[in-house]
Formats: sequence, structure tokens, C-alpha cells
Amino acid sequence: MKLFVFLFLPFLCYAQQHSSYDGTTGVIYSPNYPGDYPNSADYIYTITVPTGNFIHLTFFDFLTEDSYDYMTVENYTLSGDQTGFAIDIQASQATLTFKSDLTTTYRGFAIQYDQVPVGSVFMPSDQCSNWSLTSTYGIVTSPNYPENYPDNMSCGVTIEVENGHLISLQFLAFQTEDSYDIVTVYDADNNDDSKVLGTFSGKAVPQTLTSTGNTMRIQFSSDLVKNFSGFSALYTSFVSNDFKRGVLPQTYTTDSILKRENQKLLDWLKKKAGSNTVINTIGSN
Ligand SMILES: *[C@@H]1O[C@H](CO)[C@@H](O)[C@H](O)[C@H]1NC(C)=O
Ligand SMILES: *[C@@H]1O[C@H](CO)[C@@H](O)[C@H](O)[C@H]1NC(C)=O
Ligand SMILES: *[C@@H]1O[C@H](CO)[C@@H](O)[C@H](O)[C@H]1NC(C)=O
Ligand SMILES: *[C@@H]1O[C@H](CO)[C@@H](O)[C@H](O)[C@H]1NC(C)=O
Repeated sequence: MKLFVFLFLPFLCYAQQHSSYDGTTGVIYSPNYPGDYPNSADYIYTITVPTGNFIHLTFFDFLTEDSYDYMTVENYTLSGDQTGFAIDIQASQATLTFKSDLTTTYRGFAIQYDQVPVGSVFMPSDQCSNWSLTSTYGIVTSPNYPENYPDNMSCGVTIEVENGHLISLQFLAFQTEDSYDIVTVYDADNNDDSKVLGTFSGKAVPQTLTSTGNTMRIQFSSDLVKNFSGFSALYTSFVSNDFKRGVLPQTYTTDSILKRENQKLLDWLKKKAGSNTVINTIGSN
């Protein structure tokens, strides 16, 4: 007698998601960004630029579960903290794939692509004007990032979100000349010295900062010598009344790094909101 054993593997079939990008430049965000990406993600991103051009990729943000949740592009497999990675794809089409496993998720990625004419070299923006941002979330970097910032410069960005919203700024990577090349964050739309939230230089990644109003200004200045890669930072905005009621913004509730780092903020909120306030989904992972 023969015994046949049929083994059914508990296969979880998730459909592969496919997105296409074209145009001279754009940003590819992981699903749910700036909140955490889902488990069992399976994504393909195709970038196509006109023939006669190649593609440059800049990783303004990249954070996944090291070794388990990964992106492949060309001959690279990227996992863990890869903020600041940059690559030229010598073709008019590039394919990026992203896969996550069954447990543990992180913030994911914000990757900029740029179309570059064959025969020329990609020049990152070294725009050092004073510019402003108004979208609900976005990335702020030093000029040229992740290439070195210029010497002898001073420039700033003002973030202004909807009235009644607050801004939270999370540094993703940070490297400047200690004591001389300085990032100053203001709780205002100008360089008001009475409203400094923090002054940073050196190699330590600053803590997350939160504004008390709907504006924030980030000023960066370098001296005449020594330059480093600078910084990349993610800002997000959220409703200030929710915050006061003890409901944390999406990034705080879904971003596993913030969850760990902002225990102090959470304790403060609990105290302020009273013990019977439910803090939105915090720690539910
Ligand atoms: C990928 O290929 C390029 C060009 O052949 C090479 O320079 C680079 O070191 C390779 N990278 C990895 C991670 O293998
Ligand atoms: C940007 O603004 C700051 C402060 O007002 C100023 O010092 C700096 O020169 C300005 N930079 C440019 C490029 O306009
Ligand atoms: C960075 O510093 C080096 C010398 O340390 C200098 O040669 C170079 O021009 C500087 N880069 C920029 C973009 O200013
Ligand atoms: C530094 O920048 C200022 C303002 O742009 C300029 O006037 C000055 O000549 C620069 N100094 C050097 C040494 O490049």
C-alpha cells in the first residue's frame, strides 16, 4: 500500500504591484510613505526616459528591515539604512524591485530619478537660494546631497503648511564640519534668533524636532574650508488639535523608528492628555 501525502504549502499570494514613471525627474516613494510599508510587499517600478539619456538615482531616504526587506536595482541589492546611496543606470530604462517579508516594517524609501543626456555627467542641484515648501510632507537636503556641499555658502528653506497644522522634522543622515558648517532650525518662517529649535553640526544625527506653528525654517551655512555630504531630512505635517488631544501623527504611529525614539513625546502626551486618552495605535506592532 502506498501512502500519498499531499503537502499544501500555506502560500500567501499577494499580487505584484507595478508602477511606471517617466519625465525628466520625479520621486518614487515606498507604499504608505512616510508611514511604514506593508509586510509581504512585492513592487516593481519602471522608469523610462527618452533614448539618448540615462538615469541617475538618488536615495534621499532608504530604511528597511536589514537583510529581509530589500530593493534590487541593476546588480545591487539594498537593505537596511542606505540613505545617501546614488547610482547611474547606463540605459534609458531602469527597473527597481522592492520586496518585504512577513514581519517587521520600516519607513521605506524616497528615491529621486533624473534624466541625464548620454555623454554628460549628472549634476545634483546645488541650488543655494532661499526656497520654500508647502506640500504636506517632503524631503529637505543640503545642496548637492549626497555629494559634498559647497564651501562658503548660506541657504535656507522655509516650510509652510496649512494653518492649524504642525511640522515635524526628522533627520535621516547628517554629516557636516563640526562647529563650522551649521544647520539651524527655526520655529518660524524666518531666521528669528529667539525661535531656534536647534543648532547642529558634526556627525551625530539630530533628534526629531516639532514646530509649535505651521512654519519652520532650516538654514544651512558652511565656512571656507572642509565640506562633507551634509544632510537629508524628512518633514511631515499633522493637525495640531489632534496632537494636543493625544492622537499622534501618522509618522509617529506607523514609523517604527519614531515609535522607539519618541517614548518621551508619548509620555508627555499621555500626561498632558490624561490617563484615559487612547494614544492612536502606538506600539501596536
Ligand atoms: C555592479 O557593476 C558595476 C559595473 O560593472 C561595478 O562597478 C559595481 O561594483 C557592481 N556593484 C556590485 C554591488 O556588485
Ligand atoms: C538666504 O537667506 C539668508 C538669511 O536671510 C542669507 O544670509 C543668505 O545670504 C541667503 N542666501 C541666498 C543665496 O540668497
Ligand atoms: C570641498 O573641499 C575641497 C577641499 O577640502 C575643495 O577642493 C572643494 O572645492 C570643496 N568643494 C566644494 C563643492 O566647495
Ligand atoms: C564667500 O562668499 C561671499 C558671498 O557670496 C563672497 O563675497 C566671498 O568672496 C566668498 N569668499 C571666498 C573666499 O570665496
